[in-house]
Amino acid sequence: MHLFTSLTTVALAATSVIAAPASMDKRADSCSFSGSDGWSKAIDNKKSCSTITLTDIEVPAGETLDLSNLKKGTNVVFKGTTTFGYKEWKGPLVRVSGDDITVDGTDATLDGDGSRWWDTKGTNGGKKKPKFFYAHKMTNSVIKGITVKNSPVQVFSINNSDNLEVNGVTINNKDGDDNGGHNTDAFDVGESNKITI
Ligand SMILES: *[C@@H]1O[C@H](CO)[C@@H](O)[C@H](O)[C@H]1NC(C)=O
Repeated sequence: MHLFTSLTTVALAATSVIAAPASMDKRADSCSFSGSDGWSKAIDNKKSCSTITLTDIEVPAGETLDLSNLKKGTNVVFKGTTTFGYKEWKGPLVRVSGDDITVDGTDATLDGDGSRWWDTKGTNGGKKKPKFFYAHKMTNSVIKGITVKNSPVQVFSINNSDNLEVNGVTINNKDGDDNGGHNTDAFDVGESNKITI
């Protein structure tokens, strides 16, 4: 009698363990996030989404929109305008890594609002300025269509990447020309193979 009860309990528990992830995977396959808490929800759920759509995301001061270690084959789609809070720190504001990743920002803008940091000194002093976008450990991947506007300082850092294509990306820092923007380099490539820009 006692043994029978235990076996029944185990069998019930096993059933619910199998059922929960199956339905969750189905729901979470294509995930959409937006607004002021979208950044943290995206980070919390990134491993269970094959497409992550980020619409008008507001990343708070001192936080990284951390899309590192994505599942193989993940698509990241930016829509609208992504904004970032102000803090003097080293960043990055955005980080993406993984294998077979597509980051598509066609018609989307990542707006650094760099004038909050610009002090003519860039990385040579003055305010500590966050790096913008770390494409580190991206393999067999594509970044396309994104417009980056007014970066605090350097924009794309590509490092430890292999077979990465950056295509149709627009970087527009011209507001910084007479407003203290400095060292707002577009690309910084290191320790990588087969990078096409
Ligand atoms: C690139 O990564 C290597 C480690 O693999 C590190 O030593 C180096 O400082 C990095 N370079 C940049 C520009 O981030």
